[in-house]
Amino acid sequence: MTSESFEPVTAPSRRTALAAVGAAGLAVALTACSSDDDSSSDSSSSKDTSGSGTAGSSTAQGDAGGTELAKTSDIPEGGGKIFASKGVVVTQPTAGTYKAFSSKCTHQGCAVSSISGGAIVCPCHGSEFSVTDGSVKKGPATQGLPAEQISVSGDSITLA
Ligand code: FES
Repeated sequence: MTSESFEPVTAPSRRTALAAVGAAGLAVALTACSSDDDSSSDSSSSKDTSGSGTAGSSTAQGDAGGTELAKTSDIPEGGGKIFASKGVVVTQPTAGTYKAFSSKCTHQGCAVSSISGGAIVCPCHGSEFSVTDGSVKKGPATQGLPAEQISVSGDSITLA
């Protein structure tokens, strides 16, 4: 009678073996699934770019997000306007083209104060920056004004 009491000792190792078989079976099933996906999207190539470029805002109207900065009619052609409270200068180098730059001079950080003759002028030491691309037209600044993101929708200019 005593010999029977040893049998249960072997049970745990049998369970371990079953669990291992179960895991192997799952791995096989996953491999089979993933090989199916590749062959289904070959026929049309029209959606190539749908995955990129729409991360932030996909609205063409410009209603969502951004703060309206100005009307296009506020920005003189060949010149621009300084929005000191926003730290931004908006320019219209050529008709219908709008650009925006930081209004903080790259020399020692003064706020630019005027725009004349196609240049954004810093009052502190007289640096001048191009309204076209923010580049330095006259020192002592050596770096151009960094561009700011704006979007133009109809007659409204918004800060992105
Ligand atoms: Fe603008 Fe010096 S801070 S020119």
